[in-house]
Amino acid sequence: MTDFSNSFSKPVDLRSDTVTRPSPEMYEAMMSAPVGDDVLGDDPTVILLQDRIAELLGKEAALFMPSGTMANQIALKVHTRPGDAVICEEGCHILNYEGGAPAAISGVIPKTIAGTRGAFTAEQVEEKIAPDNSHFARTSLVEIENSHNRAGGSIFPQDEIIAISQLCNERGMLLHLDGARLWNVHVATGIPLGDLSRPADTVSVCLSKGLGCPAGSLLAGSRDHIAYAHRIRKYLGGGMRQSGILAAAGLYALDNNISRLEEDHKHARLLFEAFGGFDGAAPIEPDTNILIVEFDNSKYDPELVRQAMERRGVRFLTISKTRIRLVLHLDVTESEAEYAGEKIREVLAGMSGRAGRSMNGITPQSF
Ligand SMILES: Cc1ncc(COP(=O)(O)O)c(C=O)c1O
Repeated sequence: MTDFSNSFSKPVDLRSDTVTRPSPEMYEAMMSAPVGDDVLGDDPTVILLQDRIAELLGKEAALFMPSGTMANQIALKVHTRPGDAVICEEGCHILNYEGGAPAAISGVIPKTIAGTRGAFTAEQVEEKIAPDNSHFARTSLVEIENSHNRAGGSIFPQDEIIAISQLCNERGMLLHLDGARLWNVHVATGIPLGDLSRPADTVSVCLSKGLGCPAGSLLAGSRDHIAYAHRIRKYLGGGMRQSGILAAAGLYALDNNISRLEEDHKHARLLFEAFGGFDGAAPIEPDTNILIVEFDNSKYDPELVRQAMERRGVRFLTISKTRIRLVLHLDVTESEAEYAGEKIREVLAGMSGRAGRSMNGITPQSF
């Protein structure tokens, strides 16, 4: 059990937006949902959710599944043949955090682009396309992530996505959008979800992140792509039975938890400000709900900062030797975000110039 010393009844948990618990109202919606057997195709709540998501994203069909990883990997499998190449950004989720699945499930090779905050241009894609020649892997798919997790919830410029989509059309490639947090992009930019999705052939969206559901993702696309995705979901074991219970949480979240994402974005900016003015701490201005802070290791040790904050009842992750990540979500209130900001300033000021790094193996535990 974490020893936390804040005055709230729980730690301020900024490790991820996946840590949220269903609200009483969401539980109520789940308990009262009519259910069937979705593998047999007759769970009315799943059907309702799939239709609603297809409509929201402007696609012909959508398929409910347990996780964002499954939705992305099924998309890769639908769009590629073993031996094909997939163009994607080097920090993307599908390559870095999905257990090697592109190789294991689809047998594809990645061609990565070093992006700018997770985004890249149509010209960069063009450079990666191999000639149509049997020496080379067939480049069949481009994958983009919007918002981009590892780059700090950053937004992929929509004009560039449209240009990449046009290039894909010209060169016979397909485009998959990992939109696990597309809701955040929609709220931050005001661009309708259908417009954000239009350039992509398939789009995955997650209910279990900013929207606060316990589980569930959907893949949306053409009727043919989704029919094939249905077969793959089956053989990967992703078919669920009375999954209307989970779909009901999703329907509740679509009605109640989208526009409030603006609060998470505001809290991310509040924490961005809190990190300001400390030599050796460089917060990256957040587009949405994820804040990344880059430390100069000669001044601060991110792991020590993390430990000091944990002792004050604020949790987050170190994501590299120089970086920490703080994720805002619906279980963090304004006063909790303010508390986290105060503690950040207290810890960084206390460590400033001396105690934020371990010296000769002696770590400054008092912070
Ligand atoms: C951008 C992105 N895509 C996909 C996923 C995978 O979602 P899941 O954890 O539901 O498999 C995540 C999870 O954090 C993510 O951040």
